[in-house]
Amino acid sequence: MEELDPQRIPQHIAVIMDGNGRWARRRGLPRLEGHRQGYKTLKSVVIAAAELNVKVLTAYTFSSENWRRPKAEVSGLMRLIRYAARAELDEMKRQGVRIIVSGRMHELPKSVQKQLDEDIKATAGNSRIILNIAVNYGGRVEIVDAARRAAEMVQRGEIEPAQIDEDLLSSLMYHPELPDPDLLIRTAGEMRISNFLLWQSAYTEFYVTQTLWPDFSREDLVAAIKDYQRRTRKFGAVVEQA
Ligand code: FPP
Repeated sequence: MEELDPQRIPQHIAVIMDGNGRWARRRGLPRLEGHRQGYKTLKSVVIAAAELNVKVLTAYTFSSENWRRPKAEVSGLMRLIRYAARAELDEMKRQGVRIIVSGRMHELPKSVQKQLDEDIKATAGNSRIILNIAVNYGGRVEIVDAARRAAEMVQRGEIEPAQIDEDLLSSLMYHPELPDPDLLIRTAGEMRISNFLLWQSAYTEFYVTQTLWPDFSREDLVAAIKDYQRRTRKFGAVVEQA
């Protein structure tokens, strides 16, 4: 397996797919062309991750802040997400990919919701790898949504405020059944979290590459996992304990 330790493959990889705009600009192309290429990259990365035995891939497709982008880019991204979700469904089924979504789906255009719902239902029986599409996703909003649900539980008399703890809040996140990400990959060089998986990434290993997302290849994925495998994870303890 390309010199990877099969015992230490990250179960859950999260990706911040940055650099689509720069990729396009360098070629004198419209920004949307970069996103289009980015979608093709995502497809190949999902397949590569499945082959490497990664169990969950979370892809930051559209953040709760991305609505601030120019209107044409927002609608272009929505069209692209809908298109990709329809065009790739058969291939995702063939590849054993289960599609799930994290984010406030109800705020998306109806046609996008409808297509994503169809993908979720049509792939619900697959188990080779989960593709978690983070769309209209914000880490803070996710925590707010969980806090609201906890408050409602208190209001209904189901729990006492003192019972609100880490385990309870974890169980109220969008997909509590997923393991926390082991590895977070960010392309295009920026060293920030950008409101991604704030709750879940407490002990996630970060890997930042200068490569722009549309250029990110299977080899880059393997390099990121190799780097991850050289790390010692301590989860707040000392090495001997961990
Ligand atoms: C960040 O690059 C990328 C995004 C905001 C969109 C990510 C979307 C895709 C990769 C394609 C859509 C995916 C699916 C599932 C169809 P940027 O625009 O911020 O790049 P820049 O920093 O170079 O301008």
